[in-house]
Amino acid sequence: MSPTPEPVLDSYKRAAIIGGGVIGVSWAGLFLARGIKVVVNDPRGDIEDLVLAGLAEIAPTLDALGLPTENLAAGLTFEADLATAVSDVDIVQENGPERLELKQRIWQTVERNAPAHALLATSTSSIPATAIAEAMRQPERLIVGHPFNPPHLVPLVEIVPGERTSEATVHQAKAFYAALGKKPQVLRKEVPGFVANRLQSAIFRECVHLVAEGVVTEQELDDIVTSSIGMRWAVGGPFRTFHLGGGPGGLPHFIEHLGRAMESGMWPVLGNPTFDDATVAELTDQAADAFGGSSVAELAAERDRAQIALMRALGETPGAVAGQA
Ligand SMILES: NC(=O)c1ccc[n+]([C@@H]2O[C@H](COP(=O)([O-])OP(=O)(O)OC[C@H]3O[C@@H](n4cnc5c(N)ncnc54)[C@H](O)[C@@H]3O)[C@@H](O)[C@H]2O)c1
Repeated sequence: MSPTPEPVLDSYKRAAIIGGGVIGVSWAGLFLARGIKVVVNDPRGDIEDLVLAGLAEIAPTLDALGLPTENLAAGLTFEADLATAVSDVDIVQENGPERLELKQRIWQTVERNAPAHALLATSTSSIPATAIAEAMRQPERLIVGHPFNPPHLVPLVEIVPGERTSEATVHQAKAFYAALGKKPQVLRKEVPGFVANRLQSAIFRECVHLVAEGVVTEQELDDIVTSSIGMRWAVGGPFRTFHLGGGPGGLPHFIEHLGRAMESGMWPVLGNPTFDDATVAELTDQAADAFGGSSVAELAAERDRAQIALMRALGETPGAVAGQA
């Protein structure tokens, strides 16, 4: 009988979170709730207060996900010197500003000082690992682990290897994020914006167009999405949906029947808006009308509650760690 494999997270006792902003705090909360000690590296003078406040804010969501939140900050430390911060960790998750030269500098320091076994991941939402790793001696170690905001809640993590990222790093990243309870997806090619944000971008372009043209208001557009494609896509993605849309003939019939009409009648007339002053003013006014009655924190809490209810309804068990009870 082969021995029971060690749970993956047993190999991750300590993490360095580089950049403790929106994404860094969220990763820190999730790591801490999963029993991983966290050291935060961020040059802001008020970083300790910010991270502690951020953790207090996300604790109810972690709790609702079934994760332990008592004494969450007990495993948290701060280290202003980057080389020291990464010197004794098993995973580095970098969430610094979205600037190539800065990320390149950070990663050059990290690779010189992090242990050889450590997983090296950047949360970047747009910069390819290939570019960030250009100046690294061991580019095979760097990988994009791109979360969807907020990482402690949304399951997807896009794993995007650079041209020189090794297979071993890809496997390591996939196993780590899965053990955290995430849904990692490895992309087969490095494309700008990765996949989920490209899709959001394509749809948002049309949303802006439809509102700017006065076809619907922002609130009306949001209602249309949540009562149709939003619900639909939580259950089956666009391809499965249109496979069903083709009836017994499946996707091939859909393409013949409706897809070709979409190609010739719809794709050419999709909008191509710009964020000119008038459009931005209109979008801003409408957002104030539609959402201004509540604070962003209240709206975020409402979103988190509904998101967790949806995940539960779909049979997801976000609090369960892969391979553990
Ligand atoms: N916000 C999102 O929705 C989102 C989603 C997925 C990925 N990301 C990615 O995550 C990263 C961080 O984004 P964010 O929204 O958390 O930004 P943010 O501005 O909230 O946080 C960035 C943090 O980095 C710190 N910082 C600045 N210089 C630093 C340095 N030299 N070393 C360490 N820390 C430094 C800042 O003080 C700040 O606290 C970006 O790469 C972004 O593309 C963001």
